[in-house]
Amino acid sequence: MALLELKGVTKAYDQLKVVDNFDLKVHRGELRCLLGPNGAGKTTTIDLITGRQKITGGVISLEGSVITHWPEHMRVRAGLSRKFQVPAVFKGLTVRQNLEAAFTRHTNPVRNMFVFRDREARERVEEVALRVNLASRLGVRADFLSHGETQWLEIGMVLTQNPRILLMDEPTAGMTVQETHRTGEIFNTLKGTHTLLVVEHDMGFVRQIADRVTVMHMGRFLAEGTIEEIERNEDVKRVYLGGGKHHAHA
Ligand SMILES: Nc1ncnc2c1ncn2[C@@H]1O[C@H](COP(=O)(O)OP(=O)(O)OP(=O)(O)O)[C@@H](O)[C@H]1O
Ligand SMILES: [Mg+2]
Repeated sequence: MALLELKGVTKAYDQLKVVDNFDLKVHRGELRCLLGPNGAGKTTTIDLITGRQKITGGVISLEGSVITHWPEHMRVRAGLSRKFQVPAVFKGLTVRQNLEAAFTRHTNPVRNMFVFRDREARERVEEVALRVNLASRLGVRADFLSHGETQWLEIGMVLTQNPRILLMDEPTAGMTVQETHRTGEIFNTLKGTHTLLVVEHDMGFVRQIADRVTVMHMGRFLAEGTIEEIERNEDVKRVYLGGGKHHAHA
């Protein structure tokens, strides 16, 4: 059974279908990339999965449970996690305190001091910090982090909550080349133990991380396969060459 399954998912504004009868299956432990030119419907699809936007038609299921019309907070509780483009870290807290806050869902550092006498919880935070390349930055206040580090902290905050699937819309936007590469390494260590659905335009990054790639165009499914298959696919080439306005570079 797929961990996440979309069947005939549709989002329409009046007559205009911006997501049109879209199918997708993401399996446990997989890192799936969702590609497509500007306006293809990628962000809308993520919004429909998280419940941020109301769906027009189709079915979404998470490990067999139909969640199509669940409110957003219930989906979060069921393990559907989203990393937003704008980081939601607490600027005045250290990296450690932010991770602790995410772990306990309390933001009072004094209160967390007591919780984190618990060795297991402390180890969990440190393990996540290591995963997201912030082990040496645990004592640093979040407002002193670089843009890339802030993004990693937010990924770490999501990871402390052990999501069943992590959805990310252009996670490397605004990152330097080095930060982007390091983010790819982080994602690669998450494979197998975590399930990720990543919208991304940076083809170098997609090549670095993708197991399988799904391509959307005008709200519809266009192609799916390995990155090599996708790069050879004639339909995909046509869409990217003919589109004019796009920012996916080979
Ligand atoms: N409120 C709205 N009313 C009408 N059309 C909308 C509305 N919101 C979004 N759209 C349209 O839906 C389509 C899909 O948008 P979406 O943001 O999902 O694309 P995307 O694949 O994420 O693009 P990008 O790569 O630029 O982020 C676009 O053509 C957009 O103009
Ligand atoms: Mg988008």
